Amino acid sequence: MLLQLQLLVQPLPQAWMTYIGSVVISVNPYRSLPIYSPEKVEDYRNRNFYELSPHIFALSDEAYRSLRDQDKDQCILITGESGAGKTEASKLVMSYVAAVCGKGAEVNQVKEQLLQSNPVLEAFGNAKTVRNDNSSRFGKYMDIEFDFKGDPLGGVISNYLLEKSRVVKQPRGERNFHVFYQLLSGASEELLNKLKLERDFSRYNYLSLDSAKVNGVDDAANFRTVRNAMQIVGFMDHETESVLEVVAAVLKLGNIEFKPESRVNGLDESKIKDKNELKEICELTGIDQSVLERAFSFRTVEAKQEKVSTTLNVAQAYYARDALAKNLYSRLFSWLVNRINESIKAQTKVRKVMGVLDIYGFEIFEDNSFEQFIINYCNEKLQQIFIELTLKEEQEEYIREDIEWTHIDYFNNAIICDLIENNTNGILAMLDEECLRPGTVTDETFLEKLNQVCATHQHFESRMSKCSRFLNDTSLPHSCFRIQHYAGKVLYQVEGFVDKNNDLLYRDLSQAMWKAGHSLIKSLFPEGNPAKINLKRPPTAGSQFKASVATLMKNLQTKNPNYIRCIKPNDKKAAHIFNEALVCHQVRYLGLLENVRVRRAGYAFRQAYGPCLERYKMLCKQTWPHWKGPARSGVEVLFSELEIPVEEYSFGRSKIFIRNPRTLFKLEDLRKQRLEDLATLIQKIYRGWKCRTHFLLLKKSQIVIAAWYRRYAQQKRYQKIKSSALVIQSYIRGWKARKILRELKHQKRCREAATTIAAYWHGTQVRREYRKFFRANAGKKIYEFTLQRIVQKYFLEMKNKMPSLSPIDKNWPSRPYLFLDSTHKELKRIFHLWRCKKYRDQFTDQQKLIYEEKLEASELFKDKKALYPSSVGQPFQGAYLEINKNPKYKKLKDAIEEKIIIAEVVNKINRANGKSTSRIFLLTNNNLLLADQKSGQIKSEVPLVDVTKVSMSSQNDGFFAIHLKEGSEAASKGDFLFSSDHLIEMATKLYRTTLSQTKQKLNIEISDEFLVQFRQDKVCVKFIQGNQKNGSVPMCKRKNNRLLEVAVP
Ligand SMILES: Nc1ncnc2c1ncn2[C@@H]1O[C@H](COP(=O)(O)OP(=O)(O)OP(=O)(O)O)[C@@H](O)[C@H]1O
Ligand SMILES: [Mg+2]
Repeated sequence: MLLQLQLLVQPLPQAWMTYIGSVVISVNPYRSLPIYSPEKVEDYRNRNFYELSPHIFALSDEAYRSLRDQDKDQCILITGESGAGKTEASKLVMSYVAAVCGKGAEVNQVKEQLLQSNPVLEAFGNAKTVRNDNSSRFGKYMDIEFDFKGDPLGGVISNYLLEKSRVVKQPRGERNFHVFYQLLSGASEELLNKLKLERDFSRYNYLSLDSAKVNGVDDAANFRTVRNAMQIVGFMDHETESVLEVVAAVLKLGNIEFKPESRVNGLDESKIKDKNELKEICELTGIDQSVLERAFSFRTVEAKQEKVSTTLNVAQAYYARDALAKNLYSRLFSWLVNRINESIKAQTKVRKVMGVLDIYGFEIFEDNSFEQFIINYCNEKLQQIFIELTLKEEQEEYIREDIEWTHIDYFNNAIICDLIENNTNGILAMLDEECLRPGTVTDETFLEKLNQVCATHQHFESRMSKCSRFLNDTSLPHSCFRIQHYAGKVLYQVEGFVDKNNDLLYRDLSQAMWKAGHSLIKSLFPEGNPAKINLKRPPTAGSQFKASVATLMKNLQTKNPNYIRCIKPNDKKAAHIFNEALVCHQVRYLGLLENVRVRRAGYAFRQAYGPCLERYKMLCKQTWPHWKGPARSGVEVLFSELEIPVEEYSFGRSKIFIRNPRTLFKLEDLRKQRLEDLATLIQKIYRGWKCRTHFLLLKKSQIVIAAWYRRYAQQKRYQKIKSSALVIQSYIRGWKARKILRELKHQKRCREAATTIAAYWHGTQVRREYRKFFRANAGKKIYEFTLQRIVQKYFLEMKNKMPSLSPIDKNWPSRPYLFLDSTHKELKRIFHLWRCKKYRDQFTDQQKLIYEEKLEASELFKDKKALYPSSVGQPFQGAYLEINKNPKYKKLKDAIEEKIIIAEVVNKINRANGKSTSRIFLLTNNNLLLADQKSGQIKSEVPLVDVTKVSMSSQNDGFFAIHLKEGSEAASKGDFLFSSDHLIEMATKLYRTTLSQTKQKLNIEISDEFLVQFRQDKVCVKFIQGNQKNGSVPMCKRKNNRLLEVAVP
């Protein structure tokens, strides 16, 4: 046994953990060690269990991997006495799993929430005890839920019976729950005011003062951590606030004190001493003060529909107050757990579960009460499950499986469990029975009952026991009983057992709470609702706990267990002290020695043949991929093929047993290697298949494309050949057709020629034959006759088609025959002349004269003078000035005897400067006269015989010069130069008059440059192209002695 102890003692203080099989033994180092760093996490990740030095991480990794890879639900059972390090170990497990499982924003949030639930629950559920500064005062089982990939989805926390008596009273040297101290130290002044609290612990009766400060614990900082954790877990601000209000209300409840007051009927009645505290509580919780006050003074009992109110004495009032405080706090705690569960619950489907059990450890105090009894019972049950699964079950299995085995003895604590939980005579059943029994029930009557029923039990001891052997045992006080637990003897004070088991809260109080304006408090007391009054007694605390422990055990048995057994090295909570006796005691009662022995003699691993073959069949050619025979022979073949030494394994009836983990790791390594090879093989085959399928598809596609292309190419070629054939065909056909046509034409011409020849020949023949019958000139006559007929027809047609008699009509019928062309033209000319004559014949003499003059003018000026075309339309009037009628010219008229041919005003150009003067120009039969326009006085008179020539320009002006015969009387002043609007008419009339009088043609010179005699000088009159700017009137300018320039626009 000492040898076994060495196993645990030796590694210290270098190593704090060791293994027994797969059970981790962890010794509390009571100081922080550098073995929980992220680097260590990485070291232990995916490593074989025994590969590295023993560690909680190795166990966590093993559990997590078998959960993830083998789909097995896991549970991690952490046991040990109070202060052995269970809670710390559970946090290490959780943090390891959080570090190695999947990552991602969502997963990280889940992990963070799961981890942060710890500080919240520890603040409300942990307290300083003499054994542990952070002792869990509740049991906690947490299921961490994972998806198929092994990523955490959420969790469910179950809590087990909180040690609520601590709220109102703490043993010496211990504290109330952390949260009270944290709130008072860490809350801001403002928050404290709001909660109507004071920072001074001594103000509160419920807070023990002797150990209010714990060494190395900063309550204020922890308060901030807890608030932060609550926020991360998902508590809303108003929820946190409500929770703190309830905590404050509990604290303040403790300060309510009662004083006795005698009533008339002699009964004692309690009164509240100072109502100030009550008032503040009511303000904080929204409860009507009078309701609460009444609830502390009266108790209403309802029986058979009758309500009986009795007054409470001072002791009863204190009992009621404490019951309320305990209930308020424990219900708040359960609410917190539910609220956390709500936040961390998995949103999607859960595949696997890992449960972590961290329950209050076995404890022995000076005064052990109902709570310790319950806690130790729970530890008994855990020890039981450990024994069941590691010692009993294992040994039984060897025998069942026909494995050679020498039985190893161990202490089975089933007997102690039975003492406590047996339904007929177990301690809990007795307690329940006592609580439900009518009549006076006290803790003493309960003890008496125990003494009767359990006296003979070997693990039960009592002074009052009938068995007199204890009567002399002075170590056993009167009102106590002792149980010999697996971990030691514990003396329980019977006082308070019945009350605590009853867990009674007066209905008046629960109803007062239900009426609170504070929604959280209201929800904590649903039974206070008068509508839901239930007269049935609620289940007792003991039976509730028993039921929940039974459920827990059932739950744990469905999962693959992993053990962490925590050991406490000393009782002083000090580092570097190793109390051998204490450790030995723990090693012994934990059954570790038997555990070591079973492990040493037994086998580390076992598995049914079927799953074993399934898992390792790939390691051997005969068994891979299928083994036809029974699984056992398959495993036999497999192991012999792998040359595993025979002492390393044994064949059971249904399972193979492997002695050393090393062998299993070897198998696992081989399997891993083989799986990699197989994966490569699958990959290779898959790649080959993929490439081949791809290739076949390509090939198929290529054939399809080629077929289509060939078809297309052939079609194209065929089209080309076809069109070529058609071209050739058409050429040949054309050539043939042309040949035939030529032939036919030739034949036709031959035929025609032959016909013509034949006709001529026949004609000649006929003529030769009939010549003698024809007259000699018949042909000519026929010809003439025919011609005559044609001409006759032509004339007759012409008669009908004759155009109008208007000389200007240009129409003339078209000619019918070519040979009549000249005749046709001649006929047209004759007809025109005729119709002109006809037209002329209509004229009177007067008109004739006018036309003769116009004709004359045309002959003289047409195409010579540019002014001529504008004069054609003007009728020649001659006497523009009506001298006969105008009295102004009477004298002038009288002076002229002859007939006046022209009487018109002209501009006479001054020879000296080119300026003009108006003169009346008169032409008579023999003379030419010039008279003053105003006076009518004759200025010059020239006989026509003296006029030799008239000169004018070819342009569109009215200038003209009249040249006089040299030497004549009139010529003494020189030639005249005029301009007139009627130049054409004047020149024509002058010409005609001169011709008729002198029988000589007057010379009319049309030239743009001519000479004019001015007295002795000859002046050149030159017509130039004038400037348009000066208007349309020609400008006359004397340039020099010899030149007079006329600018014509
Ligand atoms: N692995 C560890 N490393 C350092 N200190 C440790 C370790 N485990 C435990 N401790 C110390 O021991 C104290 C008690 O540990 P813990 O609270 O885990 O005990 P417990 O077994 O949960 O006790 P209880 O049953 O009372 O809840 C811790 O507060 C811590 O100071
Ligand atoms: Mg704990």
